[in-house]
Amino acid sequence: MKRLVDPRIEAIRNRFSKIKHTVMIASGKGGVGKSLIASTLSLILSQRNKTVGLLDLDLHGPVTHVLFKLDEAELKESKDGLIPPVVNGVKVMSLGLLARNRPTPISGANKRDAIREILAVTRWDSLDILVIDLPPGTGDEVLETVNLLREKSSIIAITTPSKLSITVASRLIDLLKAMKAYIAGLLENMAYLKINGTILYPLGEPKGIELAREKRINYLGKLPLDPEIPKALEQGPRKLVDTMFARELARVVEVLEGKMR
Ligand SMILES: Nc1ncnc2c1ncn2[C@@H]1O[C@H](COP(=O)(O)OP(=O)(O)O)[C@@H](O)[C@H]1O
Ligand SMILES: [Mg+2]
Repeated sequence: MKRLVDPRIEAIRNRFSKIKHTVMIASGKGGVGKSLIASTLSLILSQRNKTVGLLDLDLHGPVTHVLFKLDEAELKESKDGLIPPVVNGVKVMSLGLLARNRPTPISGANKRDAIREILAVTRWDSLDILVIDLPPGTGDEVLETVNLLREKSSIIAITTPSKLSITVASRLIDLLKAMKAYIAGLLENMAYLKINGTILYPLGEPKGIELAREKRINYLGKLPLDPEIPKALEQGPRKLVDTMFARELARVVEVLEGKMR
């Protein structure tokens, strides 16, 4: 029997033809700072006068709507799809806007379906950059997203210096390479803590540079463990871009600019 072609694939292709660059933030495990990095990155790019979108594809743990202090009501429907709300210049779409704080028990093939649906219905219009916050690991959602968007996207792999994070990052990088995805580089978060001029390594000494060398990918740099982050998250996106963490991430953006597909 001939399989039907999913019309959403064509819809996704059309949507993405108007997006110049797509950058996906990936990691082998959760809790390494993907969402914080994706959100802050999109805010920094917007401050630099880029037209930016942020898409949170974490089906089970979306947090972007919390980071951006959004609620469900702000998502608008139009004839041509769902219109993401704009916060501090960033167009934000997250499953959290649809699911709010209810759990989302999506499993198996439905996950692939949910990814296709959100990519097909979100109306970004023209963008310079779409930042995608991927779920952790190498599950269905990540495989599906990478497969659908591989040709036009760059992936940033995130790790911390912890041995556990380095181990799973290594596996993620191998998988992405096997999928022929383009990895723009490895970024090491929570790499150090600076207190009164003293540098500490609470998660162990940074090892990302060695992993990047071993895998023959770019090392994009280190981000600090920043004690100001919890307060900044309480205060909202404007405060977030005013942290040491954001200032270091802004330096990474400069390195990244020459390395995006
Ligand atoms: N560099 C950092 N400094 C301080 N807190 C951080 C840093 N990176 C991440 N966090 C915090 O750690 C937690 C996990 O980060 P999150 O972005 O949700 O990770 P992930 O999306 O990879 O699961 C969040 O509370 C976040 O605010
Ligand atoms: Mg996350």
